[in-house]
Amino acid sequence: MSTEIVYEEMKAKLSNVVPDVELFYKAELVEEINRLKKEKNAVILGHNYMEPALFHTIPDYTGDSLFLSRKAAETDRDIIIFCGVRFMAETAKILNPERLVLLPSEKAGCSLAESISAQDVRDLRARFPGVPVVTYINTYADVKAESDICCTSSNATAVVESLGVDTVIFLPDEYLARNVARESGKHIIFPTLKGGEDSELDYQMIGWHGRCEVHEKFTVADIENVRSQFPEVVILAHPECSPEVVDASDFSGSTSSMINFVQDSQAPHYLMLTECAMGDNVAAANPQKDMLRLCMVRCPHMNQITLEDTLLALQKEQYVIDVPEEVRKRALRAVERMIAIG
Ligand code: 13P
Ligand code: SF4
Repeated sequence: MSTEIVYEEMKAKLSNVVPDVELFYKAELVEEINRLKKEKNAVILGHNYMEPALFHTIPDYTGDSLFLSRKAAETDRDIIIFCGVRFMAETAKILNPERLVLLPSEKAGCSLAESISAQDVRDLRARFPGVPVVTYINTYADVKAESDICCTSSNATAVVESLGVDTVIFLPDEYLARNVARESGKHIIFPTLKGGEDSELDYQMIGWHGRCEVHEKFTVADIENVRSQFPEVVILAHPECSPEVVDASDFSGSTSSMINFVQDSQAPHYLMLTECAMGDNVAAANPQKDMLRLCMVRCPHMNQITLEDTLLALQKEQYVIDVPEEVRKRALRAVERMIAIG
């Protein structure tokens, strides 16, 4: 396909959110990435937070963490390029030990994944013997390896309830844990927090103090402010936001459920409390809808992934994601168990 045709296709999809001059420059990159992707028998998985000119062009699949894990589990291509962050690419590698998994940037981490170590999980298990460990997919492979089952934002409550036990350890996102505890009517404690609640209390969930550095910044005052300017706005919050922010919003769900909510409803304005690029992606797909954006909070990790680096990833086959086999095998049980329950 010629660059001219790629440019025209990009214009048709993106002209309400990306100026033509940028599309013209990026069309050449898109054309070359798609050519090399075919030549090298690669699949590109793109998280919902990718910038619009990448999100709407090169991925074979786009979606939230759960959907992309499922696609990684199903692929038969030789190379998986993950346009997302390290823990997502690691999950793809856990599911595909024989395939080459590449992450276009070495710097695409995640504050939640950084917040907990495998030793922390072992210590919690020692302190609460016999209590099953649920870990959010936003963790590294060695932490998943210490867990009984993983979850994502779209199935966290279902995973906790599927265990059919009185008490669970839920790691590492404090706010997601509080939101799940509320939804499932469970009492939660944070035993590692100094001066936190007493572990003698009648708890059913044990949490950790990790936070998403993006979602923790949204406040109820932000919501009140936007509502006073746009009284009819519908506000959607990711469950990594605080319970107070989730409460003050109209809907809470994973990145894909927020996208679906906007697609399937009619409101004068929408605001999604999440990485701002997703607002651009939804605006491009729904030009008739008014998407407000709070862009003062950005995910520095997701924003590392660019078309330029994705092209380099394909050309140089970098950066290779590896997980030691002994860790991978244990982590696989937790990931497969999650995928099996949906
Ligand atoms: P989703 O699973 O909802 O896509 O969330 C991933 C993430 O990192 C949100 O910040
Ligand atoms: Fe991690 Fe938050 Fe960025 Fe998602 S938005 S990748 S949870 S830092």
